[in-house]
Amino acid sequence: MRIEDKRVHTLSPQINQDDFNYELNLRPRYLDEFIGQDKIKNNLKIFITAAKQRLEALDHVLFFGPPGLGKTTLATIISNELGVNIKTTTGPILEKSGDLAAILTNLSDKDILFIDEIHRIPRMVEEVLYPAMEDYKLDIIIGQGPSARTMKIPLPRFTLIGATTRTGLLTSPLRDRFGVVIRLEFYKIEELQTIINRSARLLDVQITQEASLEIARRARGTPRIANRVLKRVRDFAQVKGDGIINLEIANEALNALEIDKLGLDEIDRKLLSIIIDKFNGGPAGIDAISAALREDKETIEDVYEPYLLQEGFIERTSRGRIATRSSYQHLGKSIPQGLF
Ligand SMILES: Nc1ncnc2c1ncn2[C@@H]1O[C@H](COP(=O)(O)OP(=O)(O)OP(=O)(O)O)[C@@H](O)[C@H]1O
Ligand SMILES: [Mg+2]
Repeated sequence: MRIEDKRVHTLSPQINQDDFNYELNLRPRYLDEFIGQDKIKNNLKIFITAAKQRLEALDHVLFFGPPGLGKTTLATIISNELGVNIKTTTGPILEKSGDLAAILTNLSDKDILFIDEIHRIPRMVEEVLYPAMEDYKLDIIIGQGPSARTMKIPLPRFTLIGATTRTGLLTSPLRDRFGVVIRLEFYKIEELQTIINRSARLLDVQITQEASLEIARRARGTPRIANRVLKRVRDFAQVKGDGIINLEIANEALNALEIDKLGLDEIDRKLLSIIIDKFNGGPAGIDAISAALREDKETIEDVYEPYLLQEGFIERTSRGRIATRSSYQHLGKSIPQGLF
């Protein structure tokens, strides 16, 4: 299990230990249970069926996109659909080439190796992956100096599934070795509503359509947030109501959680205020924003910015981030004359 170092903010699309089991229970296990991302699902269905018909291992797959959109879920779904084992690891814990070599040589035919945060594999270790992915071979150097020689150890036909937040973080030799590269997008409100309704069913809690729609609207396009908010709203319904989640309870809980009408949380709003107040609307460099917000750069770029960009609250320019008109309006700030 991975250590979630910077993952502390409870409303961000990130996972913490407490939510782990909860997530496991709600996690779809087959493609048909996976809601939304239809194009991705249809493509995966074809690739999986074709590989099964040919009795071959599936080509290597790379998933990328912001946290909580289903990368890990899809990796486990692929293993279930193929009926093969999945071994999981993460980039940062593969410190030495030998760590990865040991995992690779222990795989069985057609197994899946899932490497989360694949962009964080040290470069030396990453080089072990190149021949492994391409030729199903391990290049081992034996001895030192002039007598050193390389030995090739054959590996089973396996499928590597990698997950990362941005493909730009990967080196190109690694990226090029994936036959299937899939970008996960934020979910539509209707899809999130369906996810919430499904989760409520699994949690055995009643929810009205208006309530699931409201949670969906404020879930930042992210299933993980939708599920997490549902869990907190359920607490409110239990303690303050009759256990049924209706619109009133949902609103009360969402407001208490400081998730606003457009799904932005405290940190999102703080980030926008910083650009507006400290940098006169921008452009503000990522380092400056990071210092003012006291969040690390990577978290800002991977967790907060993607949604703010997609929803048109900020824009990225070569000189930095700028706050858009929508940001000013949403935060109720007056727009300086001539700014837009
Ligand atoms: N399409 C979906 N339908 C239903 N539930 C989903 C879907 N996608 C994700 N979920 C739910 O959201 C949770 C988070 O998904 P997941 O852990 O796969 O995200 P991730 O992309 O791997 O995130 P991270 O980048 O943080 O590792 C899952 O536990 C699952 O319950
Ligand atoms: Mg994951």
